[in-house]
Amino acid sequence: MSTHLPTADAQDPESSARTDRLREALLAAAFTADGLLELLGAPAYAALARSETVPALRATRGDGPLETLVRLFLLQRPVPQARARAVLPVDDCLTDGWLVQDGDEVRASVDVRPYSGPEGQDWWIVSDLGCAVGGAGGIQGGGGVDRSQLVLGVGGASTTLAGITTRTPVGKALDLGTGSGIQALHAAQHATQVTATDLNPRALRIAALTLALSGARPAELREGSLFEPVGEGTYDLIVSNPPFVISPGARLTYRDGGMGGDDLCRTLVQQAAAHLNDGGYCQLLANWQHVEGEEWQDRLRSWVPRGCDAWIVQREVQDVTQYAELWLRDGGDHRAGPEAYAARYDAWLDEFAARRTRAVGFGWITLRKSGADDPSVTVEEWPHPVEQPLGETVVRHFERQDYLRRTDDAALLAGHFRLAGEVVQEQVGLPGAEDPEHVVLRQNRGMRRATKVDTVGAGFAGVCDGSLPAGRILDAIAQLVGEDPVLLRDRTPDAIRMLVEQGFLEPVAAGA
Ligand SMILES: C[S@@+](CC[C@H](N)C(=O)[O-])C[C@H]1O[C@@H](n2cnc3c(N)ncnc32)[C@H](O)[C@@H]1O
Repeated sequence: MSTHLPTADAQDPESSARTDRLREALLAAAFTADGLLELLGAPAYAALARSETVPALRATRGDGPLETLVRLFLLQRPVPQARARAVLPVDDCLTDGWLVQDGDEVRASVDVRPYSGPEGQDWWIVSDLGCAVGGAGGIQGGGGVDRSQLVLGVGGASTTLAGITTRTPVGKALDLGTGSGIQALHAAQHATQVTATDLNPRALRIAALTLALSGARPAELREGSLFEPVGEGTYDLIVSNPPFVISPGARLTYRDGGMGGDDLCRTLVQQAAAHLNDGGYCQLLANWQHVEGEEWQDRLRSWVPRGCDAWIVQREVQDVTQYAELWLRDGGDHRAGPEAYAARYDAWLDEFAARRTRAVGFGWITLRKSGADDPSVTVEEWPHPVEQPLGETVVRHFERQDYLRRTDDAALLAGHFRLAGEVVQEQVGLPGAEDPEHVVLRQNRGMRRATKVDTVGAGFAGVCDGSLPAGRILDAIAQLVGEDPVLLRDRTPDAIRMLVEQGFLEPVAAGA
């Protein structure tokens, strides 16, 4: 494994021209996300995502341009120099260090993984060799880079964060813990200025390569822990896929925060408020402890800093054994021999026992600096499938919270609402029964929420097309079902609030 990283100096016209020629060569050979899928086929492509390279090696036995690039940049295989010259500007690549000469052969110094941007852009994510997919456990061989300093490519967490990030055009964005630079690359599309930080200096160099090779504007790169490298800097958007793993000791910088328990995530959340401009968002992935005798929701609520609204979604919970096993495998500890594996497993459980932790939650945290005296803090569990990207859904969530905060019940009943797009009604009950036991409203987009409603709620939602005020709709329903309209107006606002909060109903201007 090479410890030398390529260079791509955006300030130097000759270096930029060489990077441009490399990008053009990758494109010409269809070394893109689509091209890769077509060449490998879905099973080998999916196997590669599980760090299994054998199917991809079999699919790249030919000597075409794309096979050559996949072998070099994704499978860490040397190729004859003459074969590489047919595809790549080899002299440029040797000059900048993308390739290393080895007798008559050349090999890559880093992994380069084709990646498709949100609008189908062809991008490439650079990472350490053998790290384009999977954790450090997938890396074969040894030597070279100190394992603790490895820089990984795109994982499931990376794409999840990229998907939930709000993409409103902004001035300044911060990617904290940039790693391969994937979040900075996304941010560069809608932020005027991107700052990327990392504790690991190798990550900053690799992030710069990802940006340069993908043709994005360079980011300002700063080395250091958490917010320390940005001083008192403030941003419109902060994103972080931090080293959130709760582990005994910090062995792998890319995942172990090195602070006790979930302290790194808590610190990040608490310090974010001071670095957000008014109206700015901070979005991060996190792990949190479920501690005996404590509600996990209360733990998360206590993290939210003053002046910020928050939306926290727990997507998954693992008991401590599942959790330890997941990260032992990720780190390759299952290959360390049975005794070493057992000792590390034991140490992990000791750590959890000492912290009275029985499970670990994984999820998304979004803060928005609203400056509100009565911040809206939503902490919820939603483990069901969602439709990514969710950036727009996140913005709408906070807009609806603003609306509910400033709207009392009288104003709510005078308000107009529209049923959100692609909401359907399901009736649940015994086959053949005349009346349903209950009615469920289900969203087919975004969070894909489902919620039980009574017949008044279902009828109300069905009529909401923005034309009539909510109170008038309720009066009509009261007449239909023979209920006192005053009582119905009195008891329904909570249900309407819930439907608005969860995005089933959207407030609209009268007559809109
Ligand atoms: C899980 S990786 C995320 C990489 C990338 N942003 C992504 O989304 O795929 C976490 C990154 O945080 C960096 N890191 C670790 N400890 C840090 C700290 N205390 N402060 C800032 N970055 C840190 C690691 O070096 C690593 O690059």
